[in-house]
Amino acid sequence: MEQVLQQIEQIKAEIAAYEAPNADAVEAFRIKYLGTKGLVKAIMGEMKNVPNEEKKAFGLLLNEFKQTVEARYEALKAAQESQADTAINFDISLPGYPTAVGSRHPISMVRNQIVSIFKRLGFAVAEGPEIEDDWHNFGAMNLPEHHPARDMQDTFYIAQNPDWLLRTHTSSVQARIMESQKPPIRVICPGRVYRNETISARAHCFFHQVEGLYIDEHVSFADLKQTLYFFVQEMFGKDVKVRFRPSYFPFTEPSAEMDISCLICGGKGCNVCKHTGWVEILGCGMVHPKVLENLGIDPNKYTGFAFGMGVERITMLKYQIKDLRLFSENDVRFLQQFTAAL
Ligand code: PHE
Repeated sequence: MEQVLQQIEQIKAEIAAYEAPNADAVEAFRIKYLGTKGLVKAIMGEMKNVPNEEKKAFGLLLNEFKQTVEARYEALKAAQESQADTAINFDISLPGYPTAVGSRHPISMVRNQIVSIFKRLGFAVAEGPEIEDDWHNFGAMNLPEHHPARDMQDTFYIAQNPDWLLRTHTSSVQARIMESQKPPIRVICPGRVYRNETISARAHCFFHQVEGLYIDEHVSFADLKQTLYFFVQEMFGKDVKVRFRPSYFPFTEPSAEMDISCLICGGKGCNVCKHTGWVEILGCGMVHPKVLENLGIDPNKYTGFAFGMGVERITMLKYQIKDLRLFSENDVRFLQQFTAAL
């Protein structure tokens, strides 16, 4: 009897100290103590040797002992399972989830590219306000009030002050430069402009321009042509041809529009070039003497050329984008296609 009680105490101490670092050790515990040939069963077997009058007390003791062992087993099992839940069960050496990085907007990329080409030719970059006064947007540019050519650029006026408007072209920045600097002047003016147009695949109420201006003594139309020719080759590649068509702008004389051979069909004729083989990319000309005079530059001493292009148009040609609205819809499926950082 005494011996059995001692054994029970020993086992109790043993199981309290039992550690099960894994599921196998938990199972080994079960087999050793609770299995059909386990220690608990063996001790239960001692019952038959106990005198009848002590059977009741001994039975209670044995029961309590069995429950202690079972409780310990359940505790070890639960600890093991919860450990398995939080255990690292994947390959921690695998690369993590990539951080989502944005990309530049295609309009910014192409604008930067245009700017960098002209910078290499020695052009400085100038910016100006988007809310302009009538003088810098129109008056100085040889478009006095009631001039019919104002209709070419459907203007948003500011309700509080009829002299204010949203600039319709970045020529207004050129006016500010001519007003404040002395020739030689060689600047490009990138920026957003606004026109009251119905939004469609080919027109929007705002778009982006890069306009350029070069004023010095003896600047000629040949300089203009060569500058723009260089630009086209850098922008679209050496195989692209250019042609100039006579045109009209109030602020230049003579004026021209420049076409490039169609990038899609190589000049053979397709839908994009409306089967002409040519697409228009910019307006240009020699700065009108009246404009120079308006802004305090002596037209007898200086001549200059100017040009202006739409960044959206160049981008659409470069990437064969057919709908202008895509640029301002902020659809990441569209935007994430332009990942090259420029
Ligand atoms: N300012 C003109 C426009 O917005 C473009 C242009 C600039 C044309 C300079 C000729 C010379 O349409």
